[in-house]
Order: sequence, then C-alpha cells, then structure tokens
Amino acid sequence: MNAETENTLARGQQRGSHGRQQDEGVLVIRTIAMPADTNPSGDIFGGWLMSQMDLAAGNMAGRVSQGRGATVSVEAMQFLRPVKVGDEVTLYASLRKVGRTSMRIHIDAWARPRYSDQAEKVTDADFVFVALDENGAPRPVFDTA
Ligand SMILES: CC(C)(COP(=O)(O)OP(=O)(O)OC[C@H]1O[C@@H](n2cnc3c(N)ncnc32)[C@H](O)[C@@H]1OP(=O)(O)O)[C@@H](O)C(=O)NCCC(=O)NCCS
Repeated sequence: MNAETENTLARGQQRGSHGRQQDEGVLVIRTIAMPADTNPSGDIFGGWLMSQMDLAAGNMAGRVSQGRGATVSVEAMQFLRPVKVGDEVTLYASLRKVGRTSMRIHIDAWARPRYSDQAEKVTDADFVFVALDENGAPRPVFDTA
C-alpha cells in the first residue's frame, strides 16, 4: 500500500471511528433515520427515537441480568435537537445503578448528518428496567443461588 493510499485509509478510519463519543457509554445500536420514521412536519418522530432508546437500554439490561426484563420507568428525557431523515443515529448505554431487581441505564442518542463527520447529542434519558422471571414477576438481577 503506498503512502497516499495509507493516508486515505487512515483519514477514513478516523472519520469512521467516532472516538470522541465513546466516552458516552457502550455503543449498543447504530441505525439510519428513514422517511417512514418522520412526523407530519418531516422531522424524525420522537416516539421512534424513544423506541430505539428503549431497545438499547433493554439490550444492556438483558446482558446485565442475563434474562428477560421490562421497562418500568423512563426519567429525565430531554430532546435537545431534531433528527433528520438520513441521519446516522447512535445509541450509547451506561449502567448507572443496579438495585435488587432493577437496573438504571442512561442512554445518550447522537445524530450525524449523512454527509458530515460532526455528530451531535440529540437526546438522553434514564431507563429503569426490572429483571423478570418466567411468570413476569421481578427477580434478582444477580442470581445469588
Ligand atoms: C415491572 C413490574 C413487574 C414491577 O412490578 P412492581 O410490583 O412494581 O415490583 P416492585 O415494587 O417489586 O419493584 C421492582 C423494582 O422496580 C423498581 N421500581 C418500580 N417502579 C418504579 C418506578 N416507577 N421507577 C423506578 N423504579 C421502579 C423498584 O424500586 C424495585 O427495584 P429494586 O428491586 O431494585 O429495589 C410491573 O410494574 C410491570 O409489569 N410493569 C409493566 C412493565 C411493562 O410492560 N413495560 C413495557 C411497557 S410497554
């Protein structure tokens, strides 16, 4: 590989890495906002973003508790900026607290316009998940047996 090819690859890798955002938590979901996800004004529907955040938090809750769970509350959600069609939306999850049967998971959502290398935080919120047994009743997050 010649120097120019290497430089081009390195530049592309730098753009693709989004290293600055890794501090926001574990990357759990990366997806593209599509026209079907818009509200009547043409911006991305907040409910779509909330569902992506719920999926991301549920993914981490499932890993942490190694089993089924459900969202019991969503707290401190704020929408900071609109998301546009074509934006690359990335969800980062951070485990903030583990109770007996519950887990508090902070989700940060970032959006990067399709033809830009500048992502911005668009939304964050705390999701509380409860670990459930096969009957849908709360169970300890960590199996103490
Ligand atoms: C999840 C569910 C089984 C919990 O039942 P519950 O009777 O509230 O259970 P408990 O009172 O024992 O609480 C369980 C844990 O959740 C926590 N919790 C309950 N309600 C909470 C709330 N509003 N906010 C934060 N934490 C809450 C409790 O503090 C407890 O945590 P801990 O064990 O770590 O101390 C029940 O609320 C449920 O089925 N909810 C519907 C869940 C659902 O369908 N989600 C998807 C929505 S589409």
